[in-house]
Amino acid sequence: MTARIISGTEIAAAIRSELKLRVARLKEHGKVPYLGVILVGDDPASISYVKSKEKGAQEIGVHEVTIRLPADTPESRVIQSIDDLNNDAEVDGILVQTPLPGHIDTEKVLYHISPEKDVDGFHPVNLGKLLRGQPCFLPCTPHGIQQILVRSGYDPAGKHVVICGRSNLVGKPLAAILFQKKKGANATVTVVHTGTSHIPNFTRQADILVAAMGSPLFVKADMVKDGAVVIDVGVNRVEDKTREKGYRLVGDVDFEAVKEKAAAITPVPGGVGPMTVTMLLQNTVESAEIKAGIK
Ligand code: GUN
Repeated sequence: MTARIISGTEIAAAIRSELKLRVARLKEHGKVPYLGVILVGDDPASISYVKSKEKGAQEIGVHEVTIRLPADTPESRVIQSIDDLNNDAEVDGILVQTPLPGHIDTEKVLYHISPEKDVDGFHPVNLGKLLRGQPCFLPCTPHGIQQILVRSGYDPAGKHVVICGRSNLVGKPLAAILFQKKKGANATVTVVHTGTSHIPNFTRQADILVAAMGSPLFVKADMVKDGAVVIDVGVNRVEDKTREKGYRLVGDVDFEAVKEKAAAITPVPGGVGPMTVTMLLQNTVESAEIKAGIK
């Protein structure tokens, strides 16, 4: 079997078209959604992520402002910038790009963002609501994965989802999204991680396998059940002298081998990546709708 390739780029484009309509409706109510981004330092991957957020916002008509701070900015100055955005009534969403430089306490900074503007969904209030099944801003990458599954016809309900990786960004919140007794969820979820004995025993049982451990090409064909749906969250730079940039991106899945076994698979790039920014924009639009009283 050769797998169907699920294009996150196409699904993201469909959602962005829907968002454009919602932004137009907000503008009729005199409201332009406003996203404030804080970028500290010059980590190349972070700069690239922030650029795609700026581009995506512009594309759908969201007003976006990036506050760029040097790498040696004191923590108190970063918190001051968050306070300014928290107190600005026009701002609907705030995102602090991570990772932050080592001298800054990431937890302290993220907890400072007002939960009502936490469009990243990382604040403990939003994560607590997520776990309890209450309405909240969902973290963008796991929410994007859920949308990929649902919109490509692989409803997780009743399926065994195995997630490789227990990060705060992906693994933990994705498990919390997919085991809820809700539409587009209701799955049986297993999370495997570096402390798991014999990971393949679990991954081979997956109807839906999510690779999010940040380990290039970790998932091999013999770890995958015939006909499984495989979602690759990995974004790893590996040296490639034939490329202009000197590197290429690979996922956490050995794509070429696994695509011969799976029913469907997401590519890297062009799979989960474009969905993350799209769900961030969706949360920002939703926050503006709540504020405008049309949600
Ligand atoms: N760094 C990598 N992904 C993300 C994300 O989704 N949000 C933030 N704030 N930082 C990130």
